[in-house]
Amino acid sequence: GVTGKETDPSTTSSPDTDNRVKLLLVVACALIDSDNRVLVAQRPEGKALAGLWEFPGGKLEAGERPEPALIRELSEELGITVKEACLAPLTFASYAYPDFHLLMPLYICRRWEGTAISREGQALKWVRAGKLSQLAMPPADEPLIPHLIDLLGA
Ligand code: C5P
Repeated sequence: GVTGKETDPSTTSSPDTDNRVKLLLVVACALIDSDNRVLVAQRPEGKALAGLWEFPGGKLEAGERPEPALIRELSEELGITVKEACLAPLTFASYAYPDFHLLMPLYICRRWEGTAISREGQALKWVRAGKLSQLAMPPADEPLIPHLIDLLGA
């Protein structure tokens, strides 16, 4: 550097260039039914953000592409089968939680096989986009609501 001192990136920190912040990659889906309602799932007791309503999805495994990760999560959590061609990206959530930065693409899906049921103890409900803001949601998910209202109406 300018001072001639060694610059070790692991000990150099500036708010703009700190690349040590943990990036958590999560993928989520707005399932939309024939009545234009969206499925939300309530995070169970014992998990982080328990009781909050979220769009179903979950963490990417190492090296996993977003669409297969979402297809896997929707099968595990809801027992439905989704084809990759039926997933369309809508927007991203990006939110700095205290311990990590969450980056979460939100897909929409109108076609799947099977009926969504709770396979992990989470409560489920179908709601109009315009009613989503009345639910307690994780702060990362809330900014997604206007995008769904634009798409589906209130
Ligand atoms: O669902 P899981 O606990 O694996 O998600 C990891 C973290 O991602 C949660 O603790 C939460 O902070 C965040 N998350 C979120 N909105 C979602 C899903 C996850 O903010 N829809």
